[in-house]
Amino acid sequence: MRRRGNPACFDMTEQTPVTEEKSAKVPALPDAQTVTEVKHYTDRLFSFRCTRPSTLRFRSGEFVMIGLMGDVNPKTGKQKPLLRAYSIASPAWDDEMEFYSIKVQDGPLTSRLQHIKVGDEIILRPKPVGTLVHDALIPGKRIWFFATGTGFAPFASLLREPQTYEDYDEVIITHTCREVGELTYGRDLIESIRNDEMLAELMGEDFHKKIRYYPTTTREESAKMGRITDLIRSGELFEDLEIDPLNPESDRAMICGNLAFNLELKELLEDAGLEEGANSKPAQYVVEKAFLD
Ligand code: A2P
Repeated sequence: MRRRGNPACFDMTEQTPVTEEKSAKVPALPDAQTVTEVKHYTDRLFSFRCTRPSTLRFRSGEFVMIGLMGDVNPKTGKQKPLLRAYSIASPAWDDEMEFYSIKVQDGPLTSRLQHIKVGDEIILRPKPVGTLVHDALIPGKRIWFFATGTGFAPFASLLREPQTYEDYDEVIITHTCREVGELTYGRDLIESIRNDEMLAELMGEDFHKKIRYYPTTTREESAKMGRITDLIRSGELFEDLEIDPLNPESDRAMICGNLAFNLELKELLEDAGLEEGANSKPAQYVVEKAFLD
């Protein structure tokens, strides 16, 4: 993992001075960033990393608009950028940007984006926004990250954010996908966090013991099956984790998944007495749609 020099406490991880090589290549795109890594997980999912604009500051959990140049309009001969909102999956301190994406074969953007390779350029508009940020929650003891599918992305950022462990005693991430292979990105990330010695050095030896990871599948056999919403209703989730049910005094939550899931979970949290927060009015939970093509 590469670290950004800011905040200062992270400087210790970058011992070698970085010399910037001036590329002779002039970027062909506005707000161009260069792809540095691409990983494919299933025929529906992939992740990639790219360079980070030197002036871009964001809060872990926020999203930006990214994309590619669209086709040439035969009438005007002009090209327009084709942009979509993507949660930033990397934490605020990372030197690079990471994104986790669905592949939609006839999707205007992802049908093309899924073919990017290292060295290619993408467009990244440096205007981060979003509600899945610590600032939108009031203090609590336990934080829940509820995700389906690519809704895991903002939590990949927040799970690598030191503030998450400073602010809470327990961090519970649930991830529901149709099939087992769709859990790989999240599973690998949790594994890498648990084994990352530098993160342990920065956040304290035992920080990762605060993470409880609860993956479930709905359409393929796995160790835990079922929609998280059903597992909450039945109480099975709390029994499995051996914890008390949701409580507005101690629990805080962030939701990111498909629209129906977000709405159902919102209702469950409201029933438990939690109130929705925002940047302008922090409260007990926040919600954001996983952006699909
Ligand atoms: P299911 O297979 O029962 O539809 P998708 O890939 O369609 O975005 O779905 C991702 C995961 O979210 C799937 O496991 C899906 O379960 C689950 N899901 C879809 N809608 C809801 C909902 N309203 N509440 C809880 N989980 C949902």
